[in-house]
Amino acid sequence: MSSVNIGVLISGGGSNLQAVIDDINAGVINGKIQVVISNKKDAYGLVRAKNHGIDAIYVDKRKFENNNDFNREIIKILEEKNVDLVILAGYLKILSEEFVKKYQSRIINIHPSLIPSFCGMGYYGRKVHEKVLEYGVKITGATVHFVDEGADTGSIILQEAVIVDDNETVDTLQKKVLEIEHKILPKAVQLYCDDKLEIKGRKVHVRN
Ligand code: GRF
Repeated sequence: MSSVNIGVLISGGGSNLQAVIDDINAGVINGKIQVVISNKKDAYGLVRAKNHGIDAIYVDKRKFENNNDFNREIIKILEEKNVDLVILAGYLKILSEEFVKKYQSRIINIHPSLIPSFCGMGYYGRKVHEKVLEYGVKITGATVHFVDEGADTGSIILQEAVIVDDNETVDTLQKKVLEIEHKILPKAVQLYCDDKLEIKGRKVHVRN
């Protein structure tokens, strides 16, 4: 199978982006990141991209009249770069319906909890871990899923759990979960690029 052209959308530090870059460079993922796009000018992920010779573009939402036009600009960039697979790696904006339709079953997101717990509108970043600790669950984790029109509702590709210890803080939990994210996001991208993922309704089967 030929190498998959990847576009990565970020809003922050980009440690998940880095994990994907590392596995591409190690020859584990049969893909190439053609562009990294951020809605935040100072996102460190843009620096990570540039350090690896990857095109890094900041798109300022304020320059667009509405969310659809902002999304159209991102689509335009992805099309120019012939992107087949879009990875949301800590991207904090909701994609437009048009975007999701255009890249149906070709958008992957990483979420720092075990979906369907602690997900959906308002559950992002540290907030997720705060809510996990507040609720008192004993297990949390991370989920990689395809993106559909809802918030964190698409078919699940991979999940992995971590134990919530008694003395856990938001910081320690975030660190623990990030370690898992850095494993399962690149793994899911690898499986996608090797054409090993088969979507059957809500279920994603991994072919041998
Ligand atoms: C991760 O926890 C990811 O699951 C969430 O935002 C965080 C991004 O971290 N959506 P990074 O920018 O990849 O370091």
